[in-house]
Amino acid sequence: MLNWDNPVLNTLTPPAITPAVSPTITTVTPLEQQPNLTAPVSASDKRVLNGQTDINQLAPFKYPWAWNYFLNANKNHWTPLDINMAQDIQDYHHKLSPAERHVYENVLAYLTTSDILAMRNIGLAVMEKMSAPELQIYQARQVYEEALHTWTYQHCIETLGLDQGEIYNRYRVVPEINRKIQIANRRLSAIMRPDMDFNNPDELNTFVISYLFFAAVFEGCWFYNGFSPIFSLQRRGLMKGTAEQLQYIMRDEVMHAGFGIRTIKQIMVENPVTLDPQALREMWDECEAAERDYAHYLLPSPILGYSAADHSEQFRYIANRRAHQLGISEPFPGAQCRLAWLDEQANIRKEKNFFETRVTEYQTGAGLAWT
Ligand SMILES: [Fe+2]
Ligand SMILES: [Fe+2]
Repeated sequence: MLNWDNPVLNTLTPPAITPAVSPTITTVTPLEQQPNLTAPVSASDKRVLNGQTDINQLAPFKYPWAWNYFLNANKNHWTPLDINMAQDIQDYHHKLSPAERHVYENVLAYLTTSDILAMRNIGLAVMEKMSAPELQIYQARQVYEEALHTWTYQHCIETLGLDQGEIYNRYRVVPEINRKIQIANRRLSAIMRPDMDFNNPDELNTFVISYLFFAAVFEGCWFYNGFSPIFSLQRRGLMKGTAEQLQYIMRDEVMHAGFGIRTIKQIMVENPVTLDPQALREMWDECEAAERDYAHYLLPSPILGYSAADHSEQFRYIANRRAHQLGISEPFPGAQCRLAWLDEQANIRKEKNFFETRVTEYQTGAGLAWT
C-alpha cells in the first residue's frame, strides 16, 4: 500500500546524511571551463543548489526520486467541484453546535491564509534557487496544488455562504491564528530574495532552516494536524464533503513535506550544512507553543471526540515523526499518538467513496493505485 506519509521512499532508499568533511562548499566546474560545451549534461554534475549544469535538460536524472514525486502527484488529481457539498450546507446551518461552527470556520480561516503562504514560499522563494530541473518540475506542480487548495477553501466558504471578507481577514484579528502566520512570514521573508549566496555558510543555513520549517513543521505538522478537527466532525457524519476535500489536500501536503525533507537531506549531503541544535530547539518550541495557543482558541472546551489537549499532543507526536524523517533527534520524546485514526485519513483507500460522491463522471490518472 502506498504510504502517503512518504510515498516515494517506499521504494527508494535515500542516502544517509553524512557529516561534511570540508569547510568549503562543493562546486562544479563552471560551464565555460568545461572542455566540451556541446556534451550532454552529466547527472553526477547536478546539484540541488549552486549547480552549473544546463537547467533546461531534464534527464539524465540525478534525483529520480524527485521525478517520481512528480509522477505520483499527478495520480492525486481532483478539483473541489468534483465533491458534493450539499449535505454540508444542511449540516453547517442546522446540525453543528456554535462551538463546532467556531472550530469549522477558524480551521478554514487558518488553512486558507496558510496555503497562500505555502504557494508563495515554493513558487517565489524556493523554486528559483533549485539548480536541477527535476526538482523544479515537482515544485511547479506543488505551486499548482497550493493554488488548488486555496480554491478548495474558497469553494467551501462560498458554498456555505460564509462572510468572505471576515473569514479571510481573521488571521489579522485573531492573535492565535496571527501568531502562526507571523512565524511563517518571518521564515519566508528571510529567503524571499533571488541573490542569496549559498557559498556563504550563514545564508546557506538560513535557507535550509527556512525550507526545513516549511516542509517539516508548516506542511508536515501544522497542515497534517490542522485538518483533524474537521475529520473529527466527519467521523460523526458531519461536514463530510469538506472533510473529503481536505483528505485530498492532506495527500498533497504529506507529499510536499516528504519532498521538502528529502531535498533538505540532499542539500546536506552536497554541502557542509550544520543544523544548529539550539536553532532547531527554538523552532520546535516556538511552533509547539503557537500550536497550543491555537488549539485552545479553536477548542476552549472540547467538542464531542476532540479536545485542545488531543490536538497539541498530536502535534508533538507528528513533530517527532518529521524529525525521524529528517534524521535528527525527537523534539518531544514520549509524545503519544492521540488520534490513531488520523493516519487512516491519509492512507485510506479512497477510490470507492470518491467515485460514489463525485458529481461528474470522469477519471484522470489511469495509473491511479492507492494500494
Ligand atoms: Fe496546500
Ligand atoms: Fe503544501
